[in-house]
Amino acid sequence: MNSTRRSLACLVLTCSFAACGGGAPTPKDAPAAKAPAPAAVTGDKEAQELFQSLCSTCHGTTGRGDGPGAAAINPKPRSFADEAWQASVTDEQIHKTIVFGGAAVGKSPFMPAQPQLKGNTSVLNGLTKIIRGYRTK
Ligand code: HEC
Repeated sequence: MNSTRRSLACLVLTCSFAACGGGAPTPKDAPAAKAPAPAAVTGDKEAQELFQSLCSTCHGTTGRGDGPGAAAINPKPRSFADEAWQASVTDEQIHKTIVFGGAAVGKSPFMPAQPQLKGNTSVLNGLTKIIRGYRTK
């Protein structure tokens, strides 16, 4: 009993040291370190931030369509790792889906439009690069 309690206390101490101690990765660094972003994409900070704030709720931080927002909607966002889908869409179609939303391209209205990105080619290209980066081949 006593020894159980001691090792528990030890565990708690170790954990809080790891969480607060110097050199531990901040929560902000962690996803970037985990997500295997292709080299070409890492520089595109604005698109990365937009994807994390606007898209990952549904599409998931790894583009697999498993973000928390995806649970309640049907059809689900597809996995961007789906090679057949990747091969079937052009960058142009991806831009259009992002700007005008799912309903405008015959897809689910749950895919929101981002009209503020219309004409913002560099961000649209950045988002498309991120989406293409989830390809497995
Ligand atoms: C509220 C949830 C939600 C958010 C937020 C969201 N999407 Fe989607 N998205 C969807 C759903 C659902 C679909 C699938 C629609 C379908 O298959 O009918 C989809 C489809 C797509 C597609 C097309 C996939 C296909 O089937 O052709 C692309 C590309 C896409 N989303 C990119 C984005 C990007 C980029 C963002 C952020 C700017 C974003 N989405 C934000 C839900 C969301």
